[in-house]
Amino acid sequence: MKLNPLKIRNLTAKYPVIQAGMGVRIGSAGLAAAAAKAGGFGTIASVGLGDVNNTDITNYFEHCNQALAGLIREAKAEVAGRGPVGINVMVALANYDLIVKTAVREKVDFIISGAGLPLNLPEFVGDADIALIPVISSGRAFELVVRTWLRKYNRRPDAVIVEGPLCGGHLGFSMDQIEHPETCSMDKLLPEIREVSKKYDMPDLPTLAAEEVACRADIEKFLRMGYDGVQIGTYFITAQEAGIDEKSKQVFINATKDDIVIIKSPVGLPVRVIKTKLVQKVLSGERTPFTCPYRCLRSCNPAQSLFCIARALMATWSGDVDNGLFMCGCNLDAVKKIYPIQEFFDTLAGE
Ligand SMILES: Cc1cc2nc3c(=O)[nH]c(=O)nc-3n(C[C@H](O)[C@H](O)[C@H](O)COP(=O)(O)O)c2cc1C
Repeated sequence: MKLNPLKIRNLTAKYPVIQAGMGVRIGSAGLAAAAAKAGGFGTIASVGLGDVNNTDITNYFEHCNQALAGLIREAKAEVAGRGPVGINVMVALANYDLIVKTAVREKVDFIISGAGLPLNLPEFVGDADIALIPVISSGRAFELVVRTWLRKYNRRPDAVIVEGPLCGGHLGFSMDQIEHPETCSMDKLLPEIREVSKKYDMPDLPTLAAEEVACRADIEKFLRMGYDGVQIGTYFITAQEAGIDEKSKQVFINATKDDIVIIKSPVGLPVRVIKTKLVQKVLSGERTPFTCPYRCLRSCNPAQSLFCIARALMATWSGDVDNGLFMCGCNLDAVKKIYPIQEFFDTLAGE
């Protein structure tokens, strides 16, 4: 099966692949640039770019803005127009509006937004020529986003990403659905999404599948199902260009499907993670006390949260394995090596 280019708004990538925004600092400038140059959409994760451990920083959110602007410039300079470069921004972040405005100022090509419903994303984008791509996990959620955007901003999404119940990161499903993924599988979600797209006059809206893609056959499976492309997270964590320390990449490589559990994240959603030391503490209800100078998440109550997710993800970034949090999708068994991302894209050429 030949893989067609992915066209979203006025952007085109050679292959129907979006490299997923993965925080903290996995999807950094290096990974996004490499993915965009190799023929995909390259996505910088905008979460947690300020250093929560640095008490010298007095304006955390401004620090985040500067760091994000730096990453966007770095990635765009490296790509030099050879592919689309954008950001991912989580609705759960307290500095959501500031991140989006920074991305607009830095002229990203696209903004992907999920982990909550991005109901007011267009407000911060204005009339900038940027593709807007919500991430959703049900037709109902998608309709709410589309209806709100049309009513308040006269704006339609340029594509939509459908995250399934087996995917990595925070999950837009109830625990009951996660325990019974067959009730909300990707083949069941697609007709729900297409129905909304048709109802609101977007019959050809590019619709991307985000769940367990690690090779060309996985992409072809979703294209046959009727999706227009895929977003890949977990499999790209151990790409050479991914921003985290090699010790942390080895944790993903050494773990298997049996090591995965779901915990409730301070973000307010369930999250799939590897059962490491920190996670065992969380599962037993033990609290790792922390001070919180910044309140980076809307939903987190630092007095009650069992751990600081920003610090835990920073620990993953720096290779502090004992204190890190290792989010992943169900296809961890496909993650077995560190490799240049070009190697993956090379398998997509030809028939
Ligand atoms: C380690 C990790 C970090 C992630 N970080 C984010 C994030 O910052 N924002 C977001 O919207 N989604 C995030 N996600 C979800 C991905 O963007 C993507 O949709 C998902 O990983 C796709 O499924 P897969 O992991 O099965 O490929 C993350 C996923 C992982 C595995």
